[in-house]
Amino acid sequence: MSTSLACFFIGSLLSSVNGVLVRAKVNENAILPCIVRIPGNNTEVKWFRNPNTILSMALHVIGPSRKRMSINQPYIGEWNLHIQHVQLGDTGDYSCRFGNDVIEQIDLMVEIAPTIQETHEMTFNEGETGILWCNVTGSPVPTVRWFWKSPNQIDGIGQDSTAEGNRLVLHNITRYYDNIYVCLATNTAGEERREIRTHVNFGPEVEVFQNTVYAKLREEVTLHCAVEAYPMDGTLEWVFQNNNSPIDNNWKYKVVPDKDMMNDYNTLIVSLTIRNLQLGDGDYGHYICRTKNFSRGYSEKVLIVQKPSEDNEDGVIRYDV
Ligand SMILES: *[C@@H]1O[C@H](CO)[C@@H](O)[C@H](O)[C@H]1NC(C)=O
Ligand SMILES: *[C@@H]1O[C@H](CO)[C@@H](O)[C@H](O)[C@H]1NC(C)=O
Ligand SMILES: *[C@@H]1O[C@H](CO)[C@@H](O)[C@H](O)[C@H]1NC(C)=O
Ligand SMILES: *[C@@H]1O[C@H](CO)[C@@H](O)[C@H](O)[C@H]1NC(C)=O
Repeated sequence: MSTSLACFFIGSLLSSVNGVLVRAKVNENAILPCIVRIPGNNTEVKWFRNPNTILSMALHVIGPSRKRMSINQPYIGEWNLHIQHVQLGDTGDYSCRFGNDVIEQIDLMVEIAPTIQETHEMTFNEGETGILWCNVTGSPVPTVRWFWKSPNQIDGIGQDSTAEGNRLVLHNITRYYDNIYVCLATNTAGEERREIRTHVNFGPEVEVFQNTVYAKLREEVTLHCAVEAYPMDGTLEWVFQNNNSPIDNNWKYKVVPDKDMMNDYNTLIVSLTIRNLQLGDGDYGHYICRTKNFSRGYSEKVLIVQKPSEDNEDGVIRYDV
């Protein structure tokens, strides 16, 4: 075979043990080269699909193969087998023979770029072992590699996973496995990547940043309370002392949920501002921050608003909490 032939090939040619490897992408065309340098009557040139299925004699393609195959003679002496719209089933060994002599032995490899089946989100519970799949098709069989990237800034915490081909096993899942994993499938025809978002059910867990807040008479004070949870399917409310009804927005109170961190950190913060603190109205005391309507449970924390002891200028007895 002359090297100048290479420019007629669709797909690339490589020498292999069995002969020549021809690669073609599915639905494209493939040319299987054969040069018969024997002068005279070449009606004896035949193509076979190995071992013994005859495809062509001289310029005639036999049987149903005719639909997609033809013998191509760009130059005298060439008996190239031209396959249109190559299919995966065309993969295999072909030979070009002259009489009983094998002139050319071809391995046709039909390539299909990797396709990853849809998986975009997975939800686990804490303590479980989880499996992420990267089910991929393609030819040749794609290799799968796993990476992970965190949407938040807690990379590396509690991450314990082992990649086993197309699956990634997550051991002893904690809430910090809330992450984006990337699987990358590669073969000679291309690559595809898929991001899999994982969520971990946990909480709700209410947290306050201080247990006691000191605030002077007639001033205002703002209390902060956070809940961590996934799913974040409830909210927070504040109640004062033993009142069971939650505090609403009015001239006295301002309740402000801050949802900025909700998606990235699974955290909701709700602040409560109490204006013009008074003793008589009972503004000093226990404020309870509690969850409302979470499907996965209940949590609460207490925050105490206290008057500094030196703040006794009006002579009223100190409110003891
Ligand atoms: C070529 O060979 C075939 C038989 O193999 C014969 O029928 C044909 O007449 C030959 N043609 C020429 C031009 O010699
Ligand atoms: C992936 O394939 C495995 C079996 O090989 C199967 O158990 C699993 O459900 C598949 N996952 C998806 C998302 O297709
Ligand atoms: C799983 O994690 C929990 C909490 O992080 C820990 O107490 C436990 O020992 C871990 N189990 C294993 C098998 O690593
Ligand atoms: C939310 O909780 C309240 C009680 O705190 C209940 O009356 C109400 O039905 C709940 N709403 C939903 C949507 O679950």
